[in-house]
Amino acid sequence: MQTFQNNKNRKFNAVITGVGMYFPEKVMDNKFFESIVDTSDEWIMTRTGIKERRLLEEGGTSVMATKAVEDLLKSKNMSAEEIDLIICATVTPDMFFPATACLVQDNIGAKNAWGFDLSAACSGFLFALKTGAQFIESGAYKKVVVIGADKMSAITDYTDRNNCILFGDGASAVLLEPTEDFNYGIQDAILHVDGSGRSHLCMTGGGSWNPPSHETVDKKMHYIYQEGKAVFKVAVVGMADVTTQIMEKNSLCSEDIAYLVPHQANLRIISATAERMGITKDKVMINIDRYGNTTSCTIPSCLTEYYRAGKIKKGDKLILAAFGAGFTWGSIYLVWGVD
Ligand code: COA
Repeated sequence: MQTFQNNKNRKFNAVITGVGMYFPEKVMDNKFFESIVDTSDEWIMTRTGIKERRLLEEGGTSVMATKAVEDLLKSKNMSAEEIDLIICATVTPDMFFPATACLVQDNIGAKNAWGFDLSAACSGFLFALKTGAQFIESGAYKKVVVIGADKMSAITDYTDRNNCILFGDGASAVLLEPTEDFNYGIQDAILHVDGSGRSHLCMTGGGSWNPPSHETVDKKMHYIYQEGKAVFKVAVVGMADVTTQIMEKNSLCSEDIAYLVPHQANLRIISATAERMGITKDKVMINIDRYGNTTSCTIPSCLTEYYRAGKIKKGDKLILAAFGAGFTWGSIYLVWGVD
């Protein structure tokens, strides 16, 4: 477990100053799933809170990641050449190598940037945000783009009703910039991994342990494997514990918090986390109903939608929280720094 104290030796704080996102047009609603597996709209809605998700019909994760960054740059009226670093959180890269960050860099013409991918499943965006923030806080860089992008449809078994109804495709990105005003930006982070949970949520085929073969395909090892109930239980505890811990550590009470920004895996996990934090529903960012679980894209896309809807204001205190495969989980406390 790593905790990061609000370090007075930082040169700068890292602030999110821009947001962008892209969701493919094709919608898969619950009726569609009724037509391909033994399920119902009612079951999916009550057990997960999901109404529909998006499907990328052509191309890989880099297609969506590129469009999300282009959306961000357009809204900031900023040139790609200004970007110093691109970090792409994903578990569905276009290919093992080169990294999706390289593909995005080339697609947008970010000639002065370097970059890399980061794999932490549903906690990917939080891990990437904290990583990107270090480069800003040290004074090394001025413009870091952090992307959360996943084409979950590429690793979803659409004959498995337990899992296929959960996931969707999407990409979202934020821009981190420095500020000397330490009242704004990323204040604190608590991040965890526990690899002993690896067998409950994983994709075991196609890597160096089980290279692709007829056998791995026949055994469906190139798809997400999840023991839903087991993951549900640890996710509820992990999200609730880490969010209350970061609140206590920063002397925050529920009234101080403008929004909980939770990973969108299941509305029931989100509700349990909010309840434990003492936070009312209206202070919880939600988009799972429209996109399902888009893995590393859930948190930045919530930020993008709520900011663009005028619902986040400068000075708002936000608690970001996620849980995912690994297991990985964590929470970031930030103060929104732009109007
Ligand atoms: N439609 C209808 N019935 C379904 C179904 C579907 N799509 N999927 C599963 N069921 C059935 C099961 O087969 C089971 O039937 P049985 O009792 O006859 O065996 C029953 O519904 C209950 O299944 P259960 O696994 O107990 O449901 P649940 O309430 O735990 O909900 C999940 C299942 C997957 C929605 C839930 O466990 C979950 O969200 N897990 C965590 C996901 C997550 O957070 N991942 C981590 C981050 S990515």
